[in-house]
Amino acid sequence: METPAESPISSKEAAGARAALCVESGMILGLGTGSTVTYFLEALARRIQSENLSVKGVATSEDTVLKAKELGIPMTTLEEDPQLDLVIDGADEVDGDFRLIKGGGGALLREKIVAAAGKRVVIIVGEGKQVDVLGTTFLLPVEILPFGYPSTESRVAGLGCIPFLRTTEKEEPFVTDNGNYILDCKFAEGIADPVSLHAEMSQIPGVAEVGLFLDLCDEVITGLGGGTTTVQTKP
Ligand code: A5P
Repeated sequence: METPAESPISSKEAAGARAALCVESGMILGLGTGSTVTYFLEALARRIQSENLSVKGVATSEDTVLKAKELGIPMTTLEEDPQLDLVIDGADEVDGDFRLIKGGGGALLREKIVAAAGKRVVIIVGEGKQVDVLGTTFLLPVEILPFGYPSTESRVAGLGCIPFLRTTEKEEPFVTDNGNYILDCKFAEGIADPVSLHAEMSQIPGVAEVGLFLDLCDEVITGLGGGTTTVQTKP
């Protein structure tokens, strides 16, 4: 009888497994959200089991809380541990200056708070997330308060994009863990000046967070086909 061929390790799985090697016993971790982070959590849980690592994690979403608990990863909060040794999170786009678009999973607000609390932030991505110009392959998520959202939406559109209110399969507004809505914003030519856009969007009343992470990434681990990875460190 033939042994079934092992399924090849995906680029996301490779990145997640590589990131788990960055963890040291005693660390307080920030745990991101998304499919790549799920691979990281699984690899981390294996290390906790086999090496008796002592770590605690702060989750960036309710989804990650559930996954981490299921995997037996000890949890803490930013109230108990306001400073994190290492944050591991995914991204939707990464440019050559270590700037990111995040929020595909709708967790951008907590992700930014957790990243800002980290001494070191490592972003893990699979293939196809590196871009020359942010906003060219992915719409920019912006978290907004439900109160008066059409007014917020039109002010966001005034910054040169077409915003789409994120909806569920039932065509209802997608609601974040914070009770807010998400606008996914399309920029026809990508985002020419992410710094100015971030500053202007953040000023709009009703905007809770913008999915541009401009100075919150120290290292990018990119998974490649065949289970290999590259690691880029911000100079
Ligand atoms: C969650 O809100 C996002 O910021 C994720 O980190 C991002 O969408 C990456 O997701 P995947 O790892 O699933 O591609």
